[in-house]
Amino acid sequence: MKNKKKINKIILGDSLEVLKNIESNSIDVVLTDPPYFLDKLDNNWKYDNVNNNKNQQVIKSLPSGMKFDREQGKKFYSWYFKIAKEIFKILKPGGFFFSFSSPRLYHRMASAVDDAGMDIRDCFLWLYTQNQAKAMSLNHFIEKLDITSKNKERLKNKFKGWKTPQLKSCFEPIVMAQKSVDGTFLNNMIKNDIGLLNTEIKVGDNMFPANILTVDNVNEIIDKAFLIKKPKKEERGDFNIHKTVKPLALCEHIIKLTAFYKDAVVLDPFVGSGTTAVAAKKLGLNYIGIDINPEYIDISLERLNGICKIDRKVKQNIENENFGIKVQNSLFNLICEEAI
Ligand SMILES: C[S@@+](CC[C@H](N)C(=O)[O-])C[C@H]1O[C@@H](n2cnc3c(N)ncnc32)[C@H](O)[C@@H]1O
Repeated sequence: MKNKKKINKIILGDSLEVLKNIESNSIDVVLTDPPYFLDKLDNNWKYDNVNNNKNQQVIKSLPSGMKFDREQGKKFYSWYFKIAKEIFKILKPGGFFFSFSSPRLYHRMASAVDDAGMDIRDCFLWLYTQNQAKAMSLNHFIEKLDITSKNKERLKNKFKGWKTPQLKSCFEPIVMAQKSVDGTFLNNMIKNDIGLLNTEIKVGDNMFPANILTVDNVNEIIDKAFLIKKPKKEERGDFNIHKTVKPLALCEHIIKLTAFYKDAVVLDPFVGSGTTAVAAKKLGLNYIGIDINPEYIDISLERLNGICKIDRKVKQNIENENFGIKVQNSLFNLICEEAI
C-alpha cells in the first residue's frame, strides 16, 4: 500500500510541505475547504486569532468577513496554485479534486486549480437559507459628518434602505476538477479505479444527482430535486469549536459520488475539525487529513474516535443504505473492530 505511514492519520503541518511527501498518483479524491482568504482566514490561520471571540467579531472596526481588499484574491491565487500543483501530482489519473470557496473569490480558486493542470468539470453549488446579512447602513458615517443635524436627517432619509454592496450570502461554490484520465474513461477506471461518477447515488426524491446541493429543507420543489439527507445524530460534537465546520452529509455525498475502490484514499489538506476524514471513515474508506493548528487536530481525533462507537449502533441503517461501494460494509466492520 502507498503512503503506509500516512493512511488514516491526521497530520500536523503546513500542507504545502506535507503534500510534497505524499506519493505521486496515490490519492483517489481530494475534498477540501481551504482558507477563503477573507480577513484572518488565510494560510496563516492562527487558532487563537480566529477562535478568540473578541477578535472574531470585529476586524479594524468592520464585522468579520467584510473587509474588502483587492490583494486577497491575488494572494489566494498564488498560494492555491502551489497547493493545486502538489495535489495534481499526488492524484491518480482520473482522481477528483473538490474545493469549496466563497462566492467572492471562487474565480481565483478555480483559476489556480485550472492553471495547475486540472480539468475543471463542474461547479457545485451548496445552497442554504440561513446566514447573517452583511450589508451595512451608512447612518453611522452620516452621524460623523460635520453638517447640521437637520442635514444629517435629510441624508439618512435620502439613503434609507440603501446599504453597502454585500447581500446575505446563501451559497458556497465548490469546484469539481479532475486529473486527466489515462486513455479512455473505461481504460482509466479499469486501471486506476477512479474517474467516473456513481449515478446510483440519488438525491431528493430518488432523483439523479445534481450540481446543486442542500442539506436543509427549503421547500417541496427544491427538496425533491436536491436535498441530501442529514445524518440523524448530532454530527459535529459538543466539543467542536471550529468556526467553519462543513456539513458531514455534504462531504459523505461527494465521496460516495466519486470513490469507487474499496481501499480508496480521500485526502483533505485543510481538514479543520475533521469532517472529510469522518465522512471517509464512516464510508469505510481511507483518509489522510492535514491541518496547521494542533487544536483542530485534537478535535478531529476526538470526532474520529467517536465515529465507530456511534456507527456500531446505526450499522444496520448504514447497511440498508445503498452506497454503491459494495465491499465497504465488511471493511467498515474491520475498521470498527480494530478501533474499539
Ligand atoms: C475552512 S477550515 C476547514 C474546516 C473543515 N472543513 C471542517 O469541517 O472542520 C480551513 C482549515 O485550514 C487550516 N489551515 C490554514 N492554513 C493552513 C496551512 N498552510 N496548512 C494546513 N492547514 C492550514 C486552518 O487551521 C483551518 O482549520
